[in-house]
Amino acid sequence: MPKRRRKQVLVSANEAPGKDAPGWWKSAVIYQVYPRSFADSNGDGLGDIGGVRARLGHLRDLGVDAIWMSPWYPSPMADAGYDVADFRDIDPVFGTLAEAEALIEEAHAAGIRMIVDIVPNHVSSEHPWFQAALASPDAPERDYFWFRPAHGDHMAGGDNMAGGENMPTNWTGEFGGTTWTQVPDGDWYLHLFTPQQPDLNWEHPVVRAEFESILRFWFDRGVDGIRIDSAALLFKDPALPEVTDGEPHPFHDLDAVHDVYRSWRRVADEYPDRALIGEVWMPDVERFTNYLRPDELHAAFNFDFLGCAWDPALMRACIDRTLEAHAAVGAPPTWVLSNHDVTRHVTRYGRADTTFSFDNNLDRTPVDLELGTRRARAAALLSLSLPGSAYVYQGEELGLWENEHIPEDRIQDPMYARRGHTRDGCRVPLPWSDDEPPFAFTEGGPWLAEPSLAEPSLAEPWLPQPREWKDRTVQAQTGDPNSMLELYRRAIRLRRAEPGLHTPEMSWLDHGPDVLAYTRGPDFACVLNLSGTAVPLPDHVSPLLLSGPLEDGGLLPPDTAAWLRLRQPRSTQRE
Ligand code: GLC
Repeated sequence: MPKRRRKQVLVSANEAPGKDAPGWWKSAVIYQVYPRSFADSNGDGLGDIGGVRARLGHLRDLGVDAIWMSPWYPSPMADAGYDVADFRDIDPVFGTLAEAEALIEEAHAAGIRMIVDIVPNHVSSEHPWFQAALASPDAPERDYFWFRPAHGDHMAGGDNMAGGENMPTNWTGEFGGTTWTQVPDGDWYLHLFTPQQPDLNWEHPVVRAEFESILRFWFDRGVDGIRIDSAALLFKDPALPEVTDGEPHPFHDLDAVHDVYRSWRRVADEYPDRALIGEVWMPDVERFTNYLRPDELHAAFNFDFLGCAWDPALMRACIDRTLEAHAAVGAPPTWVLSNHDVTRHVTRYGRADTTFSFDNNLDRTPVDLELGTRRARAAALLSLSLPGSAYVYQGEELGLWENEHIPEDRIQDPMYARRGHTRDGCRVPLPWSDDEPPFAFTEGGPWLAEPSLAEPSLAEPWLPQPREWKDRTVQAQTGDPNSMLELYRRAIRLRRAEPGLHTPEMSWLDHGPDVLAYTRGPDFACVLNLSGTAVPLPDHVSPLLLSGPLEDGGLLPPDTAAWLRLRQPRSTQRE
């Protein structure tokens, strides 16, 4: 009996993780490219598709399974491209549609899938629909948005004026500030983000049909997945009530949104092996996993994990919560440490308060970057060995920290004016080589596909890079066995080769309350020491990968993780 069971494990291990296996998103390593900061191929100081194509080798060497591209569409860039004027084209800053198609093809040839970012909650105020809506109060396009007259019926009390005069509601926007702007004919329109991002009316069939057509547009071009921006915000209570404790929220997570994702799922299912991945910020785990029911989205970002403190009990509880909630709906968990909206985790983990939330602004509180880096290395081994898919935000593999010293006159993030916190510090252009800025982010060097296109003089990168990043360039770290880059490369390679990491199985080992230790299959274990003292490792035949050196006697130091071989895999054991 036990013999047979072992055999079954071997069979499933041998099947995985082929890149062509159905359900690639269930265990993929997905790398987020923030195109304006990845690599600049034309010397204007802003990254572009040419830069991604030229640097694709970096992603192939890293071993990622897929790229998620943050928005690359035509945009006035009021919110760095999350204000889209045309979902079927590419902003000239980034290149052309033909270049995007070439990138999709080249990524596929390198064995890398492509995910594009769709923003359904709002469009740019320059979008033709909104321009038409502005042109006349009678334009049918007004109904595609949330236009409301001043002094709506529900305003009978007349005291709801905090944001100006006669605003339809007193809601606070997602970036802070008010959510309504008045147009010259007296009506107000709703924008949960900036005034340049008017919210769409998802009750309208034209809006629904348009987005299904946009999905098909990109699926037809071969993209393998869609990342859905602000996925829980689409619907609003048409009665426009104020936000009141204990009452249903008027614009977060309304039930009607699920019907949209069911129809998107039907569209995705018309194509082989396409994935829908939701950006769903939701404290309630059950409400969160509603988005992952079998006929809705394939996956969603785990912000619970991202925001969790560097604390053994809290992390273990978060992992358990994640696994249980996802198992209940049959969806793969995801593990996310950073993205383009949040403080880089090297910085977060180096602070006294290691949590992340938009509500606790910890900017410029003291940071121990050495400690943050040590923990970030250990966190990489954690997130890359838990069951499910893992996300890597560009620069995380280089151990970049938040640039908290961007001069105020260079800050571009619209959140800054409203909340006093900027997301620009995690969006700083990547350092590739050389000893000083721009670290070959923008250059006319030999790697350029067409060097003749380079501007004679190169513009400064759009955000300043810390000079200290000279040790964090791809070039400086390549071949250095102690570098963050080589740690990520080795971890991703091992993840691919290690049979235990291809099973959904995970079991906690009891190694004391301050150590997270678990097995994946019979041969593999991960141990993360979150206590203040070095601890012995569980019995094993050899360490596979360490986030930092062991102490004398083979003890695992604090804030360090190890991947262990527990016994020789059965295929290499003597019968
Ligand atoms: C999402 C994006 C963020 C953007 C916002 C509005 O949260 O990740 O960058 O500002 O939506 O589109």
